[in-house]
Amino acid sequence: MHIGILQGGGTCPGTNAAIGGAVAAAWKEDVDVIGIPHGYRGLMTPQEFSPIQAWLNGARLSSLTYKPGCILGTSRENPLKKWEESKERITENIRRNRLDALLIIGGDDTFSVANRLREEEVIPISGIPKTIDSDLTVPSLGFHTAARRGRCFVKNMRTEAQNFGIIGIIEAMGRDAGWLARAHQEPTDPMGSADAILLPEFEVSEDTVVARMQQIFRARGHAVFVIAEGFRINGTQTYLTEYGESDPHGHGRLGGVRFRVEQWLRATGMPTYQLAPGYLYRSGRPTPEDADLASNLGGHAMHSLLRGKTGKVATMLDGRVGLMDMANVKGGRLVPKELYDAALLRRKD
Ligand code: F6P
Repeated sequence: MHIGILQGGGTCPGTNAAIGGAVAAAWKEDVDVIGIPHGYRGLMTPQEFSPIQAWLNGARLSSLTYKPGCILGTSRENPLKKWEESKERITENIRRNRLDALLIIGGDDTFSVANRLREEEVIPISGIPKTIDSDLTVPSLGFHTAARRGRCFVKNMRTEAQNFGIIGIIEAMGRDAGWLARAHQEPTDPMGSADAILLPEFEVSEDTVVARMQQIFRARGHAVFVIAEGFRINGTQTYLTEYGESDPHGHGRLGGVRFRVEQWLRATGMPTYQLAPGYLYRSGRPTPEDADLASNLGGHAMHSLLRGKTGKVATMLDGRVGLMDMANVKGGRLVPKELYDAALLRRKD
């Protein structure tokens, strides 16, 4: 048997651990794993794929556990754009490489394509969920690492804020979901918790933001303020227009809202610094928690696929590794109002 494996979408800590877990499960049953480069772009490009051994390049499988990024590379290629042509190219590549099934590591966009491959029975397919945004309808790998990295950014920004007596602003990733920005406040990590957060789900007026930040600034002489990149002002989000209108799945590239909010604070005399860590949330080593989750999900997904359980996504169900129908794995999971205090600009638990 030959199982193809690919990652689609943004870089995510833990992806290599998931590949390691999946390959270990396949090798236990003498099944070959074929690496597909750069996600769906590789799947659609006529080529002879290499076995995962070639991608390991002599390294041990265990070396993948904490390895950042994805050894196969990724892309945001979207086969749904010209589906019939894409489907033909994918089918031909599957035939040419004698693939019996596919294991997909991805987020909402990647699964939207995987579900089409499943519905049209192009190839048996299963998946492993990953996203630093935590916006999937199932627990996924990557968020734990990005959240902890965000709280590290808060700790470092607090040094600047205290040293200069300013408000340090951090623009957090997370696209349309506020889970990652909200995770910059953690009751068990007061040092790593921002003094105030703004989320995409809840528009807060300039007056409320200024009044709250003045209150904090007067009390502490400094503040760390985290603003989700998708935070809305007058109902609209802020985009990095110079990077083009949108990615292949139609997402604009969010960024720059921190400058608009910064002006609100500066206009009332509050000094500020600001930065957007951006890709640093997702491009480093996974935490042990994410590495462990990822390798378990990878192993379970492969183990199940080899027993004919296709169209499934490995995830955590009631604290145990389980399978969810791929059709039910979607994006759009947003922070509910019960978990955020829009007057005090802070999370509620
Ligand atoms: O979905 C993960 C994510 O990192 C978002 O948080 C972010 O807005 C987006 O990807 C960035 O997209 P790109 O990788 O195309 O710059």
